[in-house]
Amino acid sequence: MTWNRDIEPSRLSAHARPLLRRLRSALVHPLSDPAHVPGHLVMGRETYGEPKVIVGEGDTRVVRIGAFCSIGTDVTFLVGGNHRTDWISTFPFRLVWRLPGALEDGHPATKGDIEVGNDVWFGRDALVLSGVRIGNGAVIAARAVVTKDVRPYAVVAGNPAREVRRRFSDADVERLEALRWWDWPLERISEAVPAGAAAGLRYPAPQMKSVYI
Ligand SMILES: CC(C)(COP(=O)(O)OP(=O)(O)OC[C@H]1O[C@@H](n2cnc3c(N)ncnc32)[C@H](O)[C@@H]1OP(=O)(O)O)[C@@H](O)C(=O)NCCC(=O)NCCS
Repeated sequence: MTWNRDIEPSRLSAHARPLLRRLRSALVHPLSDPAHVPGHLVMGRETYGEPKVIVGEGDTRVVRIGAFCSIGTDVTFLVGGNHRTDWISTFPFRLVWRLPGALEDGHPATKGDIEVGNDVWFGRDALVLSGVRIGNGAVIAARAVVTKDVRPYAVVAGNPAREVRRRFSDADVERLEALRWWDWPLERISEAVPAGAAAGLRYPAPQMKSVYI
């Protein structure tokens, strides 16, 4: 959110200037440093990347990301910050003007926490909105805008993100979900990775008892 530089404070009335100051302060400060906001982002083991979590004043929801996820550059999660489209105005009067009831009146709104499974790959610049759940093994395409849940091992793309295909057959997805290799001890995984590579394990892999990578 940026301050609209077209408005010249010196040209405003004395009455409007304090309001303008409060508005500017509210617009500039509610968004904290977006990367790794403490308390709003939990990442599982081995997951790498530096997602931005956009947290506005009054946003309490969190992003939970599982293990072994790959997060591309400039991936963003919006945990809230929804203005009220069901009110007469979407302008957050109480918050901006620091009126009684601010942050207790239902603004900002959210659709809930964001839950990401394990082994999910996020392409560059993906954006995920509040309340979304992304299943294990999913792929989020570059610049996808994810507004709805993504089922396990789906590849989703576009705005709004739609499933373009599933990585494996339904039966194999079930087997992978049951295998839950991401929960294995690291020693077991590290043994399985070179074994899998040496055996050229690729889909379809009869050796699903081992990780195929
Ligand atoms: C999604 C992705 C992995 C490709 O997956 P795929 O299963 O091989 O998909 P395909 O290339 O066969 O494309 C399938 C369909 O999705 C569309 N598509 C693919 N990527 C898309 C994207 N980023 N946005 C919109 N549509 C996309 C294709 O045009 C195609 O559409 P069609 O069926 O109408 O022809 C790849 O396009 C992508 O986005 N990679 C991310 C790369 C990246 O960001 N790397 C840096 C971070 S690690």
